Amino acid sequence: MPNYRGSATLRPMSDLSNKHIVLGLSGGIACYKAAELCRALVKQGATVQVVMTEAAAQFVTPVTMQALSNQAVYVSQWDPREPNNMAHINLTRHAHAILVAPASADFMAKLLHGRADDLLSLMCLARPLDTVPLLLAPAMNKEMWAHPATQRNMAQLRQDGAIVLGVGQGDQACGEVGDGRMLEPDELLYELTALFQPKVLHGKKILISAGPTYEAMDPVRGITNLSSGKMGFALARAAHEAGANVQLVAGPVNLPTPYGVARTDVRSALEMHTAVMAQVERADIFIATAAVADWRPAQAAAEKIKKGSEGLPSFDWVENPDILADVAAHPRSQAGDLYCVGFAAETQYLQAQAQAKRERKGVPLMIGNLGPATFGQDDNALLVIDAQGVKELPRAAKLILARQLVADIAMRINTKNKGQT
Ligand code: C5P
Repeated sequence: MPNYRGSATLRPMSDLSNKHIVLGLSGGIACYKAAELCRALVKQGATVQVVMTEAAAQFVTPVTMQALSNQAVYVSQWDPREPNNMAHINLTRHAHAILVAPASADFMAKLLHGRADDLLSLMCLARPLDTVPLLLAPAMNKEMWAHPATQRNMAQLRQDGAIVLGVGQGDQACGEVGDGRMLEPDELLYELTALFQPKVLHGKKILISAGPTYEAMDPVRGITNLSSGKMGFALARAAHEAGANVQLVAGPVNLPTPYGVARTDVRSALEMHTAVMAQVERADIFIATAAVADWRPAQAAAEKIKKGSEGLPSFDWVENPDILADVAAHPRSQAGDLYCVGFAAETQYLQAQAQAKRERKGVPLMIGNLGPATFGQDDNALLVIDAQGVKELPRAAKLILARQLVADIAMRINTKNKGQT
């Protein structure tokens, strides 16, 4: 499981507004995390209906979950509060998704057989299969997780249409160490948010360069730029949400890896060039958001350059390879198998400069943005420039813009694959 700890900066508020989520808890110590998850869902704008098994109520109380969800909690199928006494029907008909977190080994075994002797399993069985997705977040001891019965049950549940999420690895409440920890609330929030994003890049392999590069002058100093990497990281997240397999090549930035994204860290333009070119054979799309240094000192000093009698230091400079231009010139790009997108960060004449850059680099799409207005910011405004003209994406959170760009790129690729121009 990739190391992801949610970044508030890449997550716009209200990702789940207008979504009605049924949060189910079955018995397990991971129930304590469900309380935090419930709060996170509400913060993202969801209405949350909590349904618990009696076992879950041994770990965390319905009172806690009611206070966090701001809704009455259901535990029993005999709950007299429902006028028709059919909580299992009433609670699911308007749900956008049911998320059972934690899903215990016992609860999944029960679901597999279509058993329904408590409200939560009854509700899962009674949900409309086509309109209410069921997500299960397993949580159990590592031996229970590895047991063939559990693995077999999960495979069957997937076949029956459930989305069985992965598990984390590490310390377990029982004192053992291994697979079977429930995903963290941030990771579950991501899974649920991604569920509602259209899978427009399903199965595509996306390569993204992000952040600045750092060109060493000596062992302790170098030149770099103000790129934070936020736009590239937002694009990596949006592409993953859209069903892509994402490979991110990141310069020196201080950002968590987006959930589910594979990341290679590099420092210099030369390292970034090598890391990107190594992936070109298998990529369907390359998005170059990195602010790559144009030049580097021809020779970095072996020892720290001291202030002193020799006056100001001077360097011979050499030009760095243009990664985007090299990828665009690759036979796979030329054959139309690899779609290249560039970013132009300018300080003036944005449209004209970005248009010229698109032609010079030989790419079908160039995204223009104003450097000082985007570097380090959580939002941005973009110009989308192709051979036909220019489209504006007005200022918004970078994740929102990234989702719009992903949809735009997917549309272009699908159009291209249908043989249209
Ligand atoms: O720096 P420049 O304005 O030329 O950047 C435009 C685009 O080219 C960006 O997408 C950037 O990631 C890419 N680029 C690159 N390698 C370079 C310089 C820029 O991939 N050496």
